[in-house]
Amino acid sequence: MKEKILRLKEKALEDIKNAKITKALADLKVKYLGKSGEVTELLKGMKDVPNEEKPAVGKLVNGLRSAIEEFIAEREKALKEAELKARLEAESIDVTLPGKATRRGGLHPVNLVRNELIEAFSGLGFKVFTGPEVELDYYNFQQLNIPADHPARDMQDTFYVTDSVLLRTQTSAGQIRCMENEKPPIKILSPGRVYRSDYDATHSPMFHQMEGLVVDKGITLCDLKGVLEEVCKKVFDKDVKTRLRPSYFPFTEPSVEIDVSCSECGGKGCSLCKGTGWIEILGAGMVNRVVLENCGVDPDVYTGFAFGLGLERIAMLKYGIPDIRYLFDNDIRFLKQF
Ligand code: PHE
Repeated sequence: MKEKILRLKEKALEDIKNAKITKALADLKVKYLGKSGEVTELLKGMKDVPNEEKPAVGKLVNGLRSAIEEFIAEREKALKEAELKARLEAESIDVTLPGKATRRGGLHPVNLVRNELIEAFSGLGFKVFTGPEVELDYYNFQQLNIPADHPARDMQDTFYVTDSVLLRTQTSAGQIRCMENEKPPIKILSPGRVYRSDYDATHSPMFHQMEGLVVDKGITLCDLKGVLEEVCKKVFDKDVKTRLRPSYFPFTEPSVEIDVSCSECGGKGCSLCKGTGWIEILGAGMVNRVVLENCGVDPDVYTGFAFGLGLERIAMLKYGIPDIRYLFDNDIRFLKQF
């Protein structure tokens, strides 16, 4: 038995010394110390050793096991160090190589204008209110004083989903949703996508509008002019002039179109402003009594103003973009300029 133990020890040490990689070492561990490993088998054979020799033989077998464990641990440490060293040498990196530049994204010009307007209006106490893009005819037209056969429907070529459901043609639908839910004083801004069956250099089937609505006691057209003048100065230029021009919308009375002085020629007249010195930027007006009544707001107590502007239009004027389609082509060379 002693003989056998000594031979096994020599063989194990030899094997361990010869292991060249940590994987081989792990296999040796199983071979000698595993469940049916050679040392374990020896231990199992202890039952055949005469009783008086058992303590001495047991000591030897246990000694053998600790010796093998120790050798394996030592060899493992040495192998790991060697493997790490080899890997570090093989994977050495050239720190002088130029790095790969990551491209930085930016905000789309329509979002830039949207954020700038929200910021300017927030300073005047407006809150953002958003409505759904798939809207009921009821909110988009009927409640805004545009009944089923009203000629004003022709001004907005509509994408219908069903007879009573459509893709909203104007953010004005948000006015009704807001007034149905909130009591005056109301001061909201409702930005979002709108849809019209229209496509050329200045029209896109999907574009962005921003609606504004103020309802309170004693609101007048002067408030409308004051608020929009303030915002135009912030968004365009501090010296920009604004003017109101009579217009027509079924949901406002009186209705106006707001123009700003042409940024290109300063009002003298050029091709951008078609010689007039003015550029139309939005539609607005005093909220029609009928609309207030439709929403349960007493028009003898409250008055209000509303306005709606196209974000693409403002972006085109502000940045001098000649064709609305540039805004939707997503050509990186174009978008990078903002
Ligand atoms: N909704 C109108 C449009 O899309 C703009 C508008 C909004 C006019 C609010 C007056 C008041 O043309």
